[in-house]
Amino acid sequence: MKNAIRFFSKFGHSAQMAEIVGKVIGAKPEDVTHPLTEPVDVLYLGCGVMLGKISSDMVNFINTLTPNRVNKVICFGSCAIIKSPVPQMRSLLEARGISVDERSFTCRGSMGPLHAGHPNQEDLDALKAFVQSTL
Ligand SMILES: Cc1cc2nc3c(=O)[nH]c(=O)nc-3n(C[C@H](O)[C@H](O)[C@H](O)COP(=O)(O)O)c2cc1C
Repeated sequence: MKNAIRFFSKFGHSAQMAEIVGKVIGAKPEDVTHPLTEPVDVLYLGCGVMLGKISSDMVNFINTLTPNRVNKVICFGSCAIIKSPVPQMRSLLEARGISVDERSFTCRGSMGPLHAGHPNQEDLDALKAFVQSTL
């Protein structure tokens, strides 16, 4: 079973989260400038939100994916105001016919003083437990 991790991270939060995912599943996290080079069973995909939206870099990466090369995506992310970046990722992926796991992980990500310190250790421990539960 081949798994992969891709993320977009403006402030380092998704990068930090992707490291945890990588340790649990035993794969190297790469940012979205790295295209998938081979078909994957599960792609763990993560990002934050700026001005209410996921980054266009993430959108562009999603637009390179096809259902015959990605069996399933599991989304993760963080944000400060909206509930989660996951619905935006999900709708773009599903529009391309890609299967997205119902399970996903979102935690708070700081925006200046708002939710300062997040993702914190508790968030990262919860992410670790979540990823373990997906194996
Ligand atoms: C300038 C700026 C703008 C942001 N805009 C939003 C926003 O519109 N909605 C939201 O929920 N979070 C917003 N956030 C919070 C980020 O989504 C949060 O920091 C997230 O963890 C960033 O993840 P990343 O570092 O992986 O990109 C903003 C943060 C900053 C610093």
